[in-house]
Amino acid sequence: MCGIVGYIGNSSVGPILFESLSRLEYRGYDSAGIALLNGHGIEVHKRVGKLKGLIEGTSQLPLRGHLGLGHTRWATHGEPSETNAHPHLDCQGRLAIVHNGIIENYRELKERLLDQGHRFQSQTDTEVIAHLVEHYSRSLSLRDAFRKALQELQGSYALCLLATDDPERLYGARLGSPLILGIGKNEMFLASDVPAVLGRTREIMYLNDREVVELSQNSLQISTLDGNPIDRQPSRIDWDIACAQKSGFKHFMLKEIHEQPNTIEQTILNRLDWQIQQVRFDERTNHFLERLSPDEQFVIIACGTAYHAALVGEYMLEEFAEMAVDVDLASEFRYRKPRLNRHTTVLAISQSGETADTLAGIRLAKEQGAKVLSICNVVGSSVARESDAVLFTHAGPEIAVASTKAYTAQLTVLALLTMYLANARQLLKDPEKLQFFRTFRKLPELARLALNAEADIQKIAFFYADSENFYYLGRKYNFPSALEGALKLKEICPKIHAEGYAAGEMKHGPIALIRPGWPVLFIATDSNVYDKVISNIEETRARKASCVVIASEGNRSIRSYADHVIEVPKTEEIFSPILTAIPLQLLAYYIADLNGCDVDQPPNLAKSVTVE
Ligand code: F6R
Repeated sequence: MCGIVGYIGNSSVGPILFESLSRLEYRGYDSAGIALLNGHGIEVHKRVGKLKGLIEGTSQLPLRGHLGLGHTRWATHGEPSETNAHPHLDCQGRLAIVHNGIIENYRELKERLLDQGHRFQSQTDTEVIAHLVEHYSRSLSLRDAFRKALQELQGSYALCLLATDDPERLYGARLGSPLILGIGKNEMFLASDVPAVLGRTREIMYLNDREVVELSQNSLQISTLDGNPIDRQPSRIDWDIACAQKSGFKHFMLKEIHEQPNTIEQTILNRLDWQIQQVRFDERTNHFLERLSPDEQFVIIACGTAYHAALVGEYMLEEFAEMAVDVDLASEFRYRKPRLNRHTTVLAISQSGETADTLAGIRLAKEQGAKVLSICNVVGSSVARESDAVLFTHAGPEIAVASTKAYTAQLTVLALLTMYLANARQLLKDPEKLQFFRTFRKLPELARLALNAEADIQKIAFFYADSENFYYLGRKYNFPSALEGALKLKEICPKIHAEGYAAGEMKHGPIALIRPGWPVLFIATDSNVYDKVISNIEETRARKASCVVIASEGNRSIRSYADHVIEVPKTEEIFSPILTAIPLQLLAYYIADLNGCDVDQPPNLAKSVTVE
């Protein structure tokens, strides 16, 4: 959904913009552009395609200056082309702007500006902002013209603006799309996300909706749209640059898959109180949970992979905490008329904390008097700030577009939350409680053991790399795992059509497509529906499907039902989706890599969907 950066400082602006943009490329990569003030005016460079093309195409240029902005695009309005790539300029080339978001009323604004004589170059919604600021700057200072223009915009934006008439300042503003400020030594940054600035500073400030910021090399001033100053202190980020780099792995996705033992451990750390055998969160969250009513109802909302985590959460909370739980896609929930009340907790799950539909769902929940708890990976993100309490996943920055470590961290938090609530409601007997606590402690090691199947999975991937279709089937806790496995493959290997189903649904339709050799992956780990899954395997084998089965370690008999077996460590059913996710991620990764796919930045996708 586009990455934007802005820089003002005493270093040469070109390399800094490129370095920052390279850490935001996961947000969009169909074109890239930069603009800098070079002492004579605004210098703009744009290329269609990835940032690499722009860097190579400008490698012989000095790109000097101390003020600049950059953009990596995921097209919403206007095809990916050099003309539509950002930055966009006004008629006179005196100001440049980059934008992440959607201006919903751009057509009316454009017509008005065309009538006033403005000339447009692109089909984008963004260009109207440049002309609107130009229009107002004829009678107002740049600062006031920017504010005035912002007041007319409907939709969402994170913006960064520079102008020849104000060469010592950079301006930013936000409504609905993320924007952070990085405070360095004699330099300041604006960016869509923290990794963009981690190479230069860890002092960060978050801009809120309807706030404007004015940056000089050594100062910053945040204010409301009406011009009222806001006092805010920076926070120090504990991620370092190594977290945002590949550390020798071929792709970020593979690195992030391998990080899971550690991210699961970080997510559990300090949350198990062995003395009283209860889960503990931060004070605010404990307080929130303590006040839930005995008949509290949970409605879990999320998108994509986080939605699959939500589906697993439903099974967990229903079975152990005996709660009434509904799960909805945030993009559907926001347009429904849900029956919420003060005994409803809307639990929003989001890695980025900036997904537009999830945020809209949170706002609807609040309007209707429900409480909002969230599971989120990014401290300071919009979801985190707008929730009454937050359960953070401590997965660190997730860069690959396909979510992996954030998913297993979300499942871990859901299991912790389930334990907390089940315990608080006195629904667990002591031996059961102890057993769960022991498994939590072992989980990082179990995840490490699940990674041991990697070499086998590479061989299996080789066998299926030329497939055109893939079914993923599972039941109960591992039905969402099947959905997630299929999503991973279709996201990163668009050559293969993959679908996930509840295994029991096969006979109601999807089985019609099965032909000899059709690949079907089953998740058949130990559970009380194991025998049912075996029957489903038989049904597909009767139609000569080729079966890959993920089974619990030590299951010898499964080999007679499967063409290929992937083993995961044995565990209680509630934890099994955390472990089965790992081979599913690895299989998708190796199939995609064998097909030469762009694993970290698949076509048509972007991380953090900040538009509707
Ligand atoms: C899939 C994926 C997406 C996200 C979805 C929600 O691999 O990454 O489906 O899960 O866009 O994103 P968050 O969790 O940031 O709200």
